[in-house]
Amino acid sequence: MRVNLRIPGPIPVPDDILAEMAHPMINHRGPEFKEMLFRVTDGLKQVFETKGDVFIMTTSGTGAMEASVVNTLSPGDRVLCVTVGAFGDRYGEIAAAYGAEVVRLEFPWGTAADPEKVREALRKDAKVKAVLVTHNETSTGVGNDLEAIAKAVHGASDALVLVDGVSSVASIPVRTDAWGLDVVATASQKGWMLPPGLAFVSLSQRAWKAHAVAKMPRYYFDASAYKKYFEIGQPPYTPGVSLYFALDLALKQLLAEGLPPVYARHKRIAQMTRDGLKDMGLSVFPDERAASETVTAVTVPEGVDAAKVVEALRAQHGVVIAGGQEKLKGKIFRIGHMGRVSSDEIRQTLTALAATLPKAVAARA
Ligand SMILES: Cc1ncc(COP(=O)(O)O)c(C=O)c1O
Repeated sequence: MRVNLRIPGPIPVPDDILAEMAHPMINHRGPEFKEMLFRVTDGLKQVFETKGDVFIMTTSGTGAMEASVVNTLSPGDRVLCVTVGAFGDRYGEIAAAYGAEVVRLEFPWGTAADPEKVREALRKDAKVKAVLVTHNETSTGVGNDLEAIAKAVHGASDALVLVDGVSSVASIPVRTDAWGLDVVATASQKGWMLPPGLAFVSLSQRAWKAHAVAKMPRYYFDASAYKKYFEIGQPPYTPGVSLYFALDLALKQLLAEGLPPVYARHKRIAQMTRDGLKDMGLSVFPDERAASETVTAVTVPEGVDAAKVVEALRAQHGVVIAGGQEKLKGKIFRIGHMGRVSSDEIRQTLTALAATLPKAVAARA
């Protein structure tokens, strides 16, 4: 049975895109691959809205975040980690693992980062070399105002803006050049409508300047290797070739639909999800003004065993949702709606949840 996969990634991949992966292997150092690499890179730049570089790495989102750090920083550099959840915390952990001095600017889980507080923190501390920020915090269902945060950073300092755009790019507008984002890291299994395995990383001119003096150890993720090989139409290392075929078609579809309609679709589906949950008497977990357009977090009602509900939805309705992570374990459900999601898929999710929750409450009583 095909399940209604409503976790916040990996997302269901449309059949035609999935089928592209059955393409026979080609020489990744041959002319066909070169043509495809140039074409998909051009498409990625359109989605990132950048004239700078975008590189494709065979890794997951965390690898892309690591690439953003090791390519721009040196051990001992001070970074401001703006965190509103588990993935924001992870960004700081990556920087710390490579020897950065990490100053955390934390906001309560379920709220968005306040750009004013970011500005204040930078005004007080001229030594910050980079600000690490999650665009869309998948663990809490919160969308940060990336444009306002980037503006606050640029208004207060010369710090680089490094962005975890894993669950935002291709679903929510990300204007890399216009907003002055120095590195944006994202991964294929989210709004790109692809299986996991590829990550996309952009670098601005300022990021390249930082790269020239950055001393963190790096090898596989060294952007200069990707740049050097790109000039001859090749990736530096054997890439996930099958995923490139899928990426080629996914980008064609995204760009043919047009980015504004893609973003509008995500916004509408997110609103429909929140409205449906509220109609059932449930509460959206985050501050609704900051509710994510790619994943909705909803508070588990009092007395309900969240894990049992998640399992009953899967086993009895073929609907797969996610629970909470870390301190939100057992406290929220998360419903993913990235990529080409139909209203029917959301309706089915809500109907299954409405049928399952009363039984979960009765079982406790
Ligand atoms: C916002 C965000 N950052 C980072 C990651 C980590 O990505 P990956 O699991 O692909 O390494 C995820 C994955 O869910 C995410 O949603």
